[in-house]
Amino acid sequence: MASTATKTFKNFIGGDWVDAASGETFETTVPATGESLGTFPKSGPDDVDRAVEAAKAAFEEWRLVPAPKRGEILFRFGQLLADQKDELALLMAREMGKVLPEAAGDVQEAIDMSFYMGGEGRRLFGHTTPSELRDKFNMSVRQPIGVVGVITPWNFPIAIPSWKIAPALVCGNTVVFKPATDTPLLGERFVELLVEAGVPAGVVNVVHGGGGAVGDRLVRHPDVPVITLTGSRETGVEVMRNAAENLKHVHLELGGKNAIIVLDDADLDLAVDGIVWSAFGTSGQRCTAASRVIVQEGAYEELQSRLVAAAEKLRLGPGWEEGVDVGPVINRRALEKIHSYTEIGTDEGAKLLTGGEAVNGEGTFYRPTIFGDVDPEMRVAQEEIFGPTTALIRVRDLDEAVRVSNGIRFGLSSSIFTRDVNKAFRAMRDLEAGITYINAGTIGAEVHLPFGGTKQTGNGHREAGQAALDVFTEWKSIYVDYSGKLQKAQIDTAG
Ligand code: UN1
Repeated sequence: MASTATKTFKNFIGGDWVDAASGETFETTVPATGESLGTFPKSGPDDVDRAVEAAKAAFEEWRLVPAPKRGEILFRFGQLLADQKDELALLMAREMGKVLPEAAGDVQEAIDMSFYMGGEGRRLFGHTTPSELRDKFNMSVRQPIGVVGVITPWNFPIAIPSWKIAPALVCGNTVVFKPATDTPLLGERFVELLVEAGVPAGVVNVVHGGGGAVGDRLVRHPDVPVITLTGSRETGVEVMRNAAENLKHVHLELGGKNAIIVLDDADLDLAVDGIVWSAFGTSGQRCTAASRVIVQEGAYEELQSRLVAAAEKLRLGPGWEEGVDVGPVINRRALEKIHSYTEIGTDEGAKLLTGGEAVNGEGTFYRPTIFGDVDPEMRVAQEEIFGPTTALIRVRDLDEAVRVSNGIRFGLSSSIFTRDVNKAFRAMRDLEAGITYINAGTIGAEVHLPFGGTKQTGNGHREAGQAALDVFTEWKSIYVDYSGKLQKAQIDTAG
């Protein structure tokens, strides 16, 4: 269906747009139609090496640019994103598939993050603290680290790069960015706008290509001290292992198997809205998506029937069309994986209540799928599906609900619908997750709060909020002795 002429795009290294050293290319297509969008360099280790060299050289000057000036570039970038929000959203609806309002939300997250981190240029607070000795001044400051390797997924093609690149830059680091191979065009636009905003040559470089060739080289490159990755748990484990040789700082944002708890006393209309939005928004392709719904037995039947009815009303179609609720999934491989879980769930004895099939045609559409009577140990209740599939699990009370919610290896997002404030506070305390929502679904994180998860969702770091600064800076403690004599801490006690 390559009806439109495909444009050819390049890598961006040291301020120049260049082809891959090998001259090889790959294509990106529209998931809703299969049509081709553009051709990109299929890069390899040589291209990464060149980009790292450029980023390393640029770091020497960029780290000395006053942080408020670095922040001003992010303000301009945020404004450019805002000016082009509609155009970027449309491109996202085409390249990635999400529906227009969600695509605009993705761009808005990047606008918010750029302004938030731009402001950080005038903060980046350290600490001052008294010394134990006379005539001595103590402080700790944040310092940039160097070249940051940024590896991003396709599901938030503008927002997630901004979560990583905006803080990396304001902190004084330089970047080599590998966008997902499913969304290279948005990665490319992101970098073009950064350049337009005034990012100097070499400070941000983009190298297109796959995880095996480009990502792996970045992860192993001795001159890339920081790696930040949002991706699957499997990739995260590999990245951590391969980065260990150089003792890199590794920031991982991995999977989720997030649950919404609905207690008997919940507002069921609100709960259904929250579940539909969290389970089927972005076609379930969010790491924060609600792929489990844990329902107290008194509300189970009613919730199940309302939920199935609501899911069956959702309209599937190309993301750019008015009135469409659910877009396609990213590609055919994803479609097959999602469908394999329908088979797994059915084989395990879960009850398929609705959906469970792909829509015939060019696009990669999968019907919103709900399993009922799911046992918490079934694979459909344990493994990340990353599609529009959710599993209903029946429980007796709050304690069991919390136990089931926690009974997975991930810990990203969590949610509870209840009108009982005591139960809500117990859930806030006991749910093992980086994010807990009360009377809202599992999605919709805001950029000025830490984002990330416990257990195997990550490795203890957070992005967004002030927490992001810890990924992209190294603390330095500075002691200034103005006594004019040699004072020995812990030994000189005269004071
Ligand atoms: C993701 O799916 O990787 O809270 C990020 C949310 C969005 C971000 C999701 N703001 O769902």
